[in-house]
Amino acid sequence: MNLIGTAFKCRFANPPPDLRRRPGEPRWLTPRLFSLPLLRMVTSDQFKARCEGVLARIQAACARAGRDPASVRLLPVTKTHPVEAALLAYGFGLRAVGENRVQEAAQKRPSTPADLRWELIGHLQSNKAKQALQAFDVIQSVDSPELATRLGRLAGEMGLRREVLLQVNSGEDPAKFGCDLAEAPRLLEAALAQSALVVKGLMAIAPLSDDPGVADRTFAELRLCRDALAARFGVALPELSMGMSGDLESAVAAGSTCVRVGSALFGSRPTA
Ligand SMILES: Cc1ncc(COP(=O)(O)O)c(C=O)c1O
Repeated sequence: MNLIGTAFKCRFANPPPDLRRRPGEPRWLTPRLFSLPLLRMVTSDQFKARCEGVLARIQAACARAGRDPASVRLLPVTKTHPVEAALLAYGFGLRAVGENRVQEAAQKRPSTPADLRWELIGHLQSNKAKQALQAFDVIQSVDSPELATRLGRLAGEMGLRREVLLQVNSGEDPAKFGCDLAEAPRLLEAALAQSALVVKGLMAIAPLSDDPGVADRTFAELRLCRDALAARFGVALPELSMGMSGDLESAVAAGSTCVRVGSALFGSRPTA
């Protein structure tokens, strides 16, 4: 029985516990049967082959850049895919998944092993900050000083400490969230003022473009921004979350420590 087979066996041998709402539990936290469209899930063999393919790409990019492949982690992006996608990743030995929406993660999480970490990679509205702190271990998409302050205050009140990344729009793409490069010092200052937040580094998404130079420049700018912030504030910001299915080589060359990969692992997402 391979690892992936084991994961499935465990899931079906131990169905999610009680789907009813417990007294006092917020409605959004109660596990529900999914309202997501039924998707053809990748099989465990397909997933294993794709995962090995992505790891080989990371390894080759590291070799070209003279980097240790262990310095780049693969974060599978399970958004819009059923919870089985997260279980496949877990079965393959990955211990974190990326999701874009608070509610979707809150629905899936109760059906997954406790040691699987959930990372928010999508834009967070400030009115969902409390739920995000409950549903996620890491918030990669802190993009304004106001959001950082709110998350820090709420996390303190809830007795939590959360790792965060600051999302910077280093590709200057009007279609993307993230603070402007010029605003990054103010954002870092606000996040560092919150003792309940641990600022691990920066995150960026490259603009969609046929020109690979656009991604190269976006990632190089993020790294420069990180280096400048680390020097100015005297803090280590070791994590650079950059690179997706189509541009992970460019990101690894620029120093990425976390590539967020969805479609190369699970196939294309349905268009909304
Ligand atoms: C912030 C973020 N990172 C990574 C991904 C994964 O992208 P891909 O499917 O191209 O690997 C997504 C997908 O939408 C995303 O929103």
